This record gives sequence, structure tokens and C-alpha cells, in this order.
Amino acid sequence: MSAKPLITAEEIDRELAEMGKRITEDYAGKDVLLVGVLRGAFMVMADLARHIHLPCEFDFMAVSSYGASTQTSGVVRILKDLDEEIAGRHVVIVEDIIDSGLTLNYLIKSLKVRKPASLEVAALLLKEGVQRAPLDVKYSAFTVGPEFVVGYGLDYAGRYRNLPYVGVMEP
Ligand code: PRP
Repeated sequence: MSAKPLITAEEIDRELAEMGKRITEDYAGKDVLLVGVLRGAFMVMADLARHIHLPCEFDFMAVSSYGASTQTSGVVRILKDLDEEIAGRHVVIVEDIIDSGLTLNYLIKSLKVRKPASLEVAALLLKEGVQRAPLDVKYSAFTVGPEFVVGYGLDYAGRYRNLPYVGVMEP
């Protein structure tokens, strides 16, 4: 098995630079708390953050689908909650990919009740036309089709996260 490049490292860097610039402009004069969703988001988080020129803090959450039926139920288990309090803070959730949108939908709901000053989402990839929950993703870089993508944080059976590009699995 190998991964055929779909989005190159250069394209990713160019889009994350643009996203970082927008975030820097949108939050001018404010402090931002970036919340990475483990595990896939670690790479986007590190590279996007280098393009954000603001006072920035970092936190992470780890979530997992609840059993085999989670794809449809949308119930997500929090494996690691935030270390930081978010009340009154400007929070940006950072994701590698939004597929069904159920994980994000759940995260947004569970973070909104903690009363952040603002809550937005920055995602590297959006899967085309499959979001089951209506989502408001303010910052996104690429749209991908239904193909199974790996690399740049995304895994296949735990591997390939370290690829510097996003690729499609092929035999
Ligand atoms: C991926 C991704 C999102 C979620 C998106 O994580 O990082 O968190 O799936 O899927 P959804 O939109 O259908 O809810 P995954 O569960 O693969 O865990 P990982 O990041 O640890 O690989």
C-alpha cells in the first residue's frame, strides 16, 4: 500500500499561510486559544500556528466515537478534556478533516455551554457533500471527495500521519 499525492506540502503551506493571515487579521488586538482535536490535528495545529501572529495559547482535546454506531448517532466520548477554562476567551477549534461533521457538531455544543467569547473552526480538509450536521466552518483550506485520504496527520490503521502531504491510498 502507498499513498498517491493529492495535495502537496507546498499547497498545504500556501493555504495555511493564507488561513493564518486571515485569523491574524480577524482577531487583531485579541488573544486566541487554539484547541487541537487529537490526534489528527497535531500537524495542522503546529503549521497553522506559525502563520498566526497574535498572542496565542494552545490546548488539546481527545475524542472518540462511541461504539460502532457513532457515525449515525453522533455521540462522541471525550477522552481528554481541555486543561484551560475557556469562558470569555476567543477559541478556535483546529481540525484536520471534517467528514460527517458529527464530531465537530458535538464539540461545538459542548464548548459553547462553557461560554467562550467566540468560537470558530479552522479545518484543513472538508469532505464534499457528506456533512450530516449543518456546520459553520469559518476557516477551511481544501475540499476533498469521498476517497480515503491519509497523511499530514490523517492515518490509515494508525500509520501515514507523518506524510508531509495529503494522499489517497492505493494498492
Ligand atoms: C477524524 C478527524 C475528526 C473526525 C471527523 O478523527 O480528526 O476529528 O475524524 O469525522 P466526522 O466529521 O465524521 O465526525 P479520527 O476519529 O479519525 O481520530 P484521529 O484524529 O485520532 O485519527
